Amino acid sequence: SITPKVDSLLRIMTIEEKVGQMNLYNGFWDATGPVPEGGDAKTKYEHLRKGWVGGMLNVRGVKNVRGVQRIAVEESRLGIPLIIGFDVIHGYKTISPIPLAEAASWDLEAIEQSARISAVEASASGINWTFAPMVDISRDPRWGRVMEGAGEDPFLGSKIAQARVKGFQGEDLSNPNTIAACAKHFAAYGFAEAGREYNTVDMSNAKLLNTVLPPFKAAADSGVRTFMNSFNDLNGIPVSGSKFLQRDILKGNWNFNGFVVSDWASINEIIYWGHAKNKKEAALIASKAGSDMDMEGHVYIQELAELVKSGEVDESIIDEAAGRILRVKFELGLFDDPYKYCNEDREKNLIGQKSHHEAVLDMAKKSIVLLKNENNILPLKKEGQKIALIGPLANDKNSPLGSWRLASEDYSAVSILEGMNAYTKNELSFAKGIELFKGQPSFRNEVEINTDNESGIENAITIAKDADVVVMVLGEHGFQSGEARSRTKLNLPGLQQKLLEAVYNVNKNIVLVLQNGRPLTIEWAAEHIPAIVEGWQLGSQTGNAIAQVLYGDYNPSGKLPMTFPRNVGQIPIYYNHKSTGRATNREGNVFWSHYIDQENTPLFPFGHGLSYTTFKYTNLKVDDSGYIKNGTIEISVDITNSGKRKGKEVVQLYIRDKVASVVRPVKELKGFELVELDINESRTISFHLTENELGFYNNDGAYIIEPGNFEVFVGGSSSDELKSEFSLK
Ligand code: IFM
Repeated sequence: SITPKVDSLLRIMTIEEKVGQMNLYNGFWDATGPVPEGGDAKTKYEHLRKGWVGGMLNVRGVKNVRGVQRIAVEESRLGIPLIIGFDVIHGYKTISPIPLAEAASWDLEAIEQSARISAVEASASGINWTFAPMVDISRDPRWGRVMEGAGEDPFLGSKIAQARVKGFQGEDLSNPNTIAACAKHFAAYGFAEAGREYNTVDMSNAKLLNTVLPPFKAAADSGVRTFMNSFNDLNGIPVSGSKFLQRDILKGNWNFNGFVVSDWASINEIIYWGHAKNKKEAALIASKAGSDMDMEGHVYIQELAELVKSGEVDESIIDEAAGRILRVKFELGLFDDPYKYCNEDREKNLIGQKSHHEAVLDMAKKSIVLLKNENNILPLKKEGQKIALIGPLANDKNSPLGSWRLASEDYSAVSILEGMNAYTKNELSFAKGIELFKGQPSFRNEVEINTDNESGIENAITIAKDADVVVMVLGEHGFQSGEARSRTKLNLPGLQQKLLEAVYNVNKNIVLVLQNGRPLTIEWAAEHIPAIVEGWQLGSQTGNAIAQVLYGDYNPSGKLPMTFPRNVGQIPIYYNHKSTGRATNREGNVFWSHYIDQENTPLFPFGHGLSYTTFKYTNLKVDDSGYIKNGTIEISVDITNSGKRKGKEVVQLYIRDKVASVVRPVKELKGFELVELDINESRTISFHLTENELGFYNNDGAYIIEPGNFEVFVGGSSSDELKSEFSLK
């Protein structure tokens, strides 16, 4: 077992060496080159040699990783290897769809496989730890980081969290092609007030337990080896300093035995929150609260040894934290071979291989959601149609890679123009229409949006007039969503709406392909444009995936993992909201829960997504006779492919606990199954509800299951379904 090995190592370590394990540095200098002469790099180099560094992030590539590892292993007193972390968020070099897009597939096997491929590539590049999966539930698309998560629902989010952890970590963490995963950001970061990045969070414990924590718990249950805390506070406590989250819940109730890393300098930020007066106090609060590793904050390494020596922090705290970190290093097999991820042949042969591109293409197709298809304008014909392709994102090779894809090559995606050109014999004309920006967007910097130069619109109108069908690619550039990309408006940025309407005025046969990292408010388009395809940011193979869907060689089956609002004023809008005392207009007057200028309903609901075929649901049966006997309620439904093509459908099961001691949501997803059916084929799908699905956390934090009546809804979206009831005795 690993415990005695960790313990015997801890026994021979100095306080500084133990604190060193708790220190994670960002690496940016060439560790294979000359010794740095000054500044930050010199300090880091010296700390590495002293054994005062537990891990590095952002060092990648076999040569570089070997360089830093060599210093730690060969030049420090105890030669403890480093853990090497990196944000492998949606692919490493071969880029898969953004996580929100993958969530739209509801295809857990494919999602697991996607994480697996990321792990294979990253580990071949020297990395053994990813800062993923991001499992933050969010119901606020103003927050740019919704692109990194699995959307608004805790049930779907939990299943996806499990799939991703399994994909990254595989069956055996010591295998050189698996990497340690990190469930982040613990917790409630997705509920930053008003969707503004890094903002404050105030929420009830019941909401935390019922909505925010389930995907984290699922990740913990799947054996995720690390957690990352978040930049927000929770009810007044900056979470890097939250004993409640880290010690009571994670390490206490959940018995988690991996380690917790802070987010970038988030321990220092306890000071800026006004919760610690200086670095010393920040280090004290965070270490006592259970933050085991300090990411590039330099606070632990500067303060913690002194705090232990002065007796303000008990040595057992650093023993525990360092022990947790060493445990994961043992599990990774780093003590057996610190260079096990540093193999040039693997790096050369595995990264970017053909099978990885095939898999990300498959994932990309599965992620596409057909939002609207009036008069079957889609699929397009492969020949004999004149197509005009218009939009600033249509020929962009960078935007489809999305945000958080730091190891990818810039401009390496197949653009939609390239994909469509390669895929059809149609006459295809192209016009950008407008420039989205005045300058080049990037991961780190803001860029000015073009709001006045309309010079390209005329050309777009000319080609649109002459086309049978216009395909317009509009939305958000890959660097308009992601971290620090909160928006107050969720419309098509810049002059895109103007372009869309100008084209519509001359040709109404438009297929709008959205490229975006979050739900957008496209009310005008939803009303006027006959076909809308949610194309997200689909990664390296974007153009090929979109072309195969538009031309009908792939029948779309994606379903929205997040509600599309009609306008920003409706936010937060999500399907599993609670009822109110005035949910309907009973008296025929204005005094009910609504807006006077907008409907309560969303533009597109959670779970929505069409296909080129149709599905019919019949015969919903609820058998609750076994509930007392064996603890399950069986629900079955028949589904038939009633259209003219083979297709896939996500059968969704929702329940509503009608009367409870604490008000319950109007609907909650509790099961789903992805099925593929031939024309006219029928299948009976069965779900089994257990205690895990029927209960909830009450305001005292207790998980309870209450007898009474439940409604059951089964269908192809959260708003379109058959209905039945059962009662729990
Ligand atoms: O993993 C990320 C995190 O999500 C945001 N801050 C920086 C970390 C490391 O890059």
